[in-house]
Amino acid sequence: MRTKVGIVGGGPAGLLLSHLLHLEGIDSVVLEDRSREYVEHRIRAGVLEHGTVELLTETGLGDRLQREGLVHQGVELRFLGVGHRIDFADLTGGRSITIYGQQEVVKDLIAKRLDDGGDIRFEVSDVRLDGLTSDRPTIAFAHDGAEETLECDVVAGCDGFHGVTRHAIPEGVLTEYDRTYPFAWLGILAEAPPSSEELIYTNHERGFSLCSLRSPTLSRLYLQVPPDERLENWPDERIWEELRRRTATTGDFTLNEGPVVERLIAPLRSWVAEPMQYGRLFLAGDAAHIVPATGAKGLNLAVADVRRLARGLVRLFERGETDLLEGYSDGCLRRVWRVQQFSWWMTSMLHRFDPADRYGPRLQISELEYVTSSRAAATTLAENYVGLPFDDGGSSS
Ligand code: APR
Ligand code: PHB
Repeated sequence: MRTKVGIVGGGPAGLLLSHLLHLEGIDSVVLEDRSREYVEHRIRAGVLEHGTVELLTETGLGDRLQREGLVHQGVELRFLGVGHRIDFADLTGGRSITIYGQQEVVKDLIAKRLDDGGDIRFEVSDVRLDGLTSDRPTIAFAHDGAEETLECDVVAGCDGFHGVTRHAIPEGVLTEYDRTYPFAWLGILAEAPPSSEELIYTNHERGFSLCSLRSPTLSRLYLQVPPDERLENWPDERIWEELRRRTATTGDFTLNEGPVVERLIAPLRSWVAEPMQYGRLFLAGDAAHIVPATGAKGLNLAVADVRRLARGLVRLFERGETDLLEGYSDGCLRRVWRVQQFSWWMTSMLHRFDPADRYGPRLQISELEYVTSSRAAATTLAENYVGLPFDDGGSSS
C-alpha cells in the first residue's frame, strides 16, 4: 500500500490531520488499534478553545458543534466559600470557550472522513515503523488477520502517550521533561442538570473540585483524590457528600445531584518529549506532550500541533519546500511550553499538595485573591484559558 502521509492513531490529532490534508487533496491513511465504537465512546474532557472552534467550523466540522456546543464567556474561581467570575469576553476582546465532549469531536471527524472517502483502519495491531530517515518510510501492521505494509512519504505519530511511534526514535534523540502531582482526579458523569451556567473551579482545604457539564441534562464533576485512590472506596453518596462540602458557598449555591452514569480516576501529569520530529516522523498531540486537565488544554494543543503540521505538509507536497516542516518542532514547542506553564499554574493554584503544609495554602489564597481582583492578572488567566491565537499567521487566528 502507498500513501503520502501514514498516520498512526485515530484520536483527535490523527483524524483532524487526515481531514486537513484531505481538504488540500493530500492522501493519508489512519491506523487505529481500537474499534470505532471504542474511540467514539471514550469519555475525555470537553472544553474547546476559541481557535479550535474556529478551525473546526472553517473546515466543515462545525454543524453539530455549533448546534450542540455550549458557548461560555467566563468561568468561576471559588475559594473560601465565595465565587469570583473571570469574564473572558471582556478581558479577551470577545473570545470564548465551547463545551463539547472530545468524543463528539471524534465522532464528527470519523463521520466526515468516511463521508469524504477517507481511509481509516480500525483495530490494527502490531504497528512497526521503519526507514524513518529514508525518503520512503514504511509502517508495517496487522489488520483483519493479514500482514500489511504502508509505504509513505511522511509518518505522523498521533498515537498518544502510550503509543508506539515515539519508541521508534533511537535512544538518546529525545529529551523528556516530566512532572507528576501528588494527587489524581475522580471524575463522574451524572444525569443531573448542571449546577451553574459556567464551569466552577474550587480551591478548598479538603482538596480541589470542578463542576463542569456536557449538556442541559448531563453534569461532569471532578474531585481531587490521593494518587493511588480506588473507585471502590467512593460510593456515589460519598462522592456527592464531598462535592457538596467542597463547593459550599456563603451564597445560595445548590449542587444538583443525579444518577452517576460514568466514573473514573485519572492521574495528573505534565510531560514533554523534544524534539517532535525525527527524520520523516512527526509527533503530534499526546504522543509528544501531556498536560494536567486543570487547564483543559490536552485536545486543544493536539489541534494546534496538527494545524501546524498540515500547513508544513501542504507546503512540502505542493511546492517541495521543507521550511515550514523544518520549523514544525520548534514552532509547536513554543505553544506546548506556554500551555505546560499555564496548566501547571492552574494546578498549583487550585489543589491541596501537602495537608501538613500551612504556608502553601496561604500563598494560593493570595494568588486567587490577586487573579480575581487585578484586571492584569485576570487577563493572563482569561487569554490563556480561551486559547492564545495560533502564532503562525494562519487563516484561523
Ligand atoms: N497503533 C495504532 N493506534 C494506536 C496505538 C498503536 N500502537 N497506540 C495508541 N493508538 C491510538 C489510541 O487508541 C488513540 O485512539 O492512538 C490514539 C491516540 O489518541 P489520543 O490519546 O486521544 O491522543 P491525541 O489524538 O493526541 O489527542 C489528545 O486526547 O487524551 C486526550 O487529553 C488528551 O485531549 C487530549 C487528546
Ligand atoms: C470537562 O468538562 O471534562 C473538563 C473541563 C475543564 C477541565 C477539565 C475537564 O479543566
